[in-house]
Amino acid sequence: MTVTAVVGAQWGDEGKGRVIDYLAQEADVVIRFQGGDNAGHTVINEYGKHALHLIPSGIFNPRTQNIIGSGCVVNPQSLLNEMESLKAAGVDLGNLWVSTRAQMLMPYHRELDVLEEAARGKDTIGTTKRGIGPAYADKAARAGLRMGDLLQPEWLETRLDNALRTVNRKIEILGGQPLNGEELYALCMEYREKLGDRIIDTLPMTRRAIEQKKHILLEGQLGVMRDLDWGIYPYVTSSNPTASYAASGAGLPARTIDRVIGVVKAYSTAVGDGPFPTELHDADGEKLREIGGEFGATTGRPRRCGWFDGVAIGYAAWLNGMTGLAITKLDVLDSFEIIKICIGYKLPDGAIVTDSMPDTPVLMHVTPVYEVWDGWLTPTSDCRHWDDLPKEARAYLHRISELAGIKIDYVSVGPERDQMFAV
Ligand code: GDP
Ligand code: IMO
Ligand code: MG
Repeated sequence: MTVTAVVGAQWGDEGKGRVIDYLAQEADVVIRFQGGDNAGHTVINEYGKHALHLIPSGIFNPRTQNIIGSGCVVNPQSLLNEMESLKAAGVDLGNLWVSTRAQMLMPYHRELDVLEEAARGKDTIGTTKRGIGPAYADKAARAGLRMGDLLQPEWLETRLDNALRTVNRKIEILGGQPLNGEELYALCMEYREKLGDRIIDTLPMTRRAIEQKKHILLEGQLGVMRDLDWGIYPYVTSSNPTASYAASGAGLPARTIDRVIGVVKAYSTAVGDGPFPTELHDADGEKLREIGGEFGATTGRPRRCGWFDGVAIGYAAWLNGMTGLAITKLDVLDSFEIIKICIGYKLPDGAIVTDSMPDTPVLMHVTPVYEVWDGWLTPTSDCRHWDDLPKEARAYLHRISELAGIKIDYVSVGPERDQMFAV
């Protein structure tokens, strides 16, 4: 048995979806443990190309149970849309489950996300506008509705009435249109009709899986640099994408996790606002965006691109307790004559930090210290073994591993399932 958490090691969009899809070929259970439909996890396999937002990326293996865990915020409408599109592609959804304890993301959360971003003026976070922040705020304020409430209509009605009293006042203050309780209740009843059978207490399922020594994957969303506690606060998401939260958000004892795979892109990207030290505003940045197809899987926004950040990886590796790395998108660097790696941050006072992550107001003013590496100028997308890789590419990967202090478990050289291999 192994319980493996798969987490983003950078600013998100590292390729978690494709790594889970690859590993899920051997998995009995895949559990999404946090986030909502702000995620865009792209998977390319025999069913085509899919950007998954809520549904775990193990859904393409018909033998795998797929659970949306209690740590998630679930927009039922997005879930239904996603189910439709997967069904149309011939994907079996018989093993898709939603925890009764997952928060329900309501239409007013999306509205509040938009209104709150507008109210921030020029100090925006650059959210995905999916309502994630307001939904987690309601969870913490104990004003949220949960997916299991759909199965208890009377309880739901009271909870909704209570929530709307505050929500509608907030919406009005921010200049939006208040929502109608009866309409929302009717919408919930529609969700109950369509999703009710899949909303279950998932704990007996995960407990049985542990007892029967099954292979379990815990799928994270986003990456450590946008973690609510450890990321570039306030330019973060409203949950914890780090492995420590995987147990809680999935419903497992913490000590059952025995592998933590950090998914790492061979360079850096970020969407949304906030400090991103290695960002490039030049032709190299453009080239990374173009070759890497770096546009948001959820919002379509162009991603900010930059060189690999060795300080961030050291931080991410330690904080997550990573046991191995999955390095993706190596092929995107194939045509670069030189490649840079950031190995330290120069602070405004001239000091250089290599092994700690400055807090946001400081991070905004650091200058990256780079090492320069020779490119390999050879296509790698047909490589299927470590030894197939050009020696400069192996040296580059070794350096990433050294900066992380973690061994490499997997490398990917293209988006297709068979373009990833174990090392
Ligand atoms: P996630 O949110 O971490 O699952 O990552 P995204 O799906 O948002 O972004 C990763 C993008 O890179 C997707 O478009 C993938 O299809 C693509 N991708 C993943 N691995 C590779 C790779 O090794 N090479 C190339 N060229 N593309 C990749
Ligand atoms: P995956 O799982 C990249 C970013 C947003 C914004 C911040 C907060 O595909 O890696 P939110 O909507 O969560 O309140 O936005 O986090 N963000 C992501 N960036 N990939 C994602 O998901 C993201 N989910 C949120 O751009 O800066
Ligand atoms: Mg993504």
